[in-house]
Amino acid sequence: MTTDRIEAAHATLRANDRGGYTVPNPRIYPFQWNWDSAFVAMGFGTFDMSRAFDEIDLLLKGQWDNGLVPHIVFHAPADNYFPGPAVWGTNQPTPSSGITQSPVLASAARHLWEATKGQPEAEARLARIYPGLVRYHDWWHTTRDPKGTGLVTTLHPWETGGDNSPAWDQPLERVPSETVTPVVRRDDKVVDPSMRPLAIDYQRYIHLVDTYRATGWDPAKMLAVSPFRVADIGTNAILHRAELDLLAMSHRFGTPAERARIVERIPAMGAAIGRQWDAADGHFYSRDLISDTPIKVATSGGFLPLWAGCASAAQAGALESTLMGWLRQVRYAVPSTNPADPRYEPRRYWRGPIWSVVNWMIAEGFAGYGYTDIAGRIRADTRALVTKNGFWEYFDPRDGTGLGGPDFSWTAAIDLLLTPA
Ligand code: DGY
Repeated sequence: MTTDRIEAAHATLRANDRGGYTVPNPRIYPFQWNWDSAFVAMGFGTFDMSRAFDEIDLLLKGQWDNGLVPHIVFHAPADNYFPGPAVWGTNQPTPSSGITQSPVLASAARHLWEATKGQPEAEARLARIYPGLVRYHDWWHTTRDPKGTGLVTTLHPWETGGDNSPAWDQPLERVPSETVTPVVRRDDKVVDPSMRPLAIDYQRYIHLVDTYRATGWDPAKMLAVSPFRVADIGTNAILHRAELDLLAMSHRFGTPAERARIVERIPAMGAAIGRQWDAADGHFYSRDLISDTPIKVATSGGFLPLWAGCASAAQAGALESTLMGWLRQVRYAVPSTNPADPRYEPRRYWRGPIWSVVNWMIAEGFAGYGYTDIAGRIRADTRALVTKNGFWEYFDPRDGTGLGGPDFSWTAAIDLLLTPA
């Protein structure tokens, strides 16, 4: 049983392998995605370490001179995704989008390092990857937090990974729906539209792409003109954790100057994330950086300061109570939005469904604070969803129905990470 399951996960990753990089699902996402590849690399790391490093190498092949690691790298043409490279118009040697995505990458590299410590071949591969990770983190801080507030800005819902989360409803109201680029969606032709973002969401997503393309993808101009500027709690927590992982690797692969830079940034980020805590609600919130107010919509990203290791012991306890409250309303952990929120939709993409990758980080986070029961519950649910239905993109928290695309790479990768040794 376990062997069949492991083989099925391997087969899913192999089937989505395009020769060194992995597509999340060929019918919906036919290119390489940034945070998907970080999880996929860890998944490959359980059975093919060389292939795991290839995944990171090819993602970094799309890295810009300024350090940005794009959210999509278009290694080979495919006409079944919108917006494709022509819409982005980024003029990069390896075609790519012009925005980034949740920076799990350094954490994935650290994970592979821990799994291979002392193996010369792996060390050599990490030594080659490491400088790209440093440049990526420097990019985050210099271009997305130029004033040194401790919180990085995300300029597009796609950068947060939580595209149509109810947390972005209000900030997106400032974004006009007019577009220069005609919106010709493909996603809602292959996935039931009731599981995908709305037409108005796409109008706004593309308005933002048009706006940034018009700046020539100049980071300072993008920040200055954007009508959408949020400090996503999930992205900030993921970057904080990635900084700790980069710091650990810097002792082996880096220079004292790099290390000093990273060491200086971490406490400022931790303190700024700490200020996003809402004691009354027992949750961390994202922040709207245009109105400079918290976005009081409780999402699964609000648990990620546990993954970052920057929540206090008291906050970890409060987060456990918060999550237990959510789980009394659904069968499976962890819904992407508080099920009591009127905007919660259990089948619509990031408005309610469960995502294995987020579950994995939350479970790791709780376990790190000693909350082994809730960590075990999250892991068991994540596995049960796959047992019941397979490697779906996301799942309904009420009955576990598989949603979005089937045979999804990152769901298979997380299943491998959760498989008992
Ligand atoms: C999509 O296309 O739906 C992705 O989430 C954005 O990159």
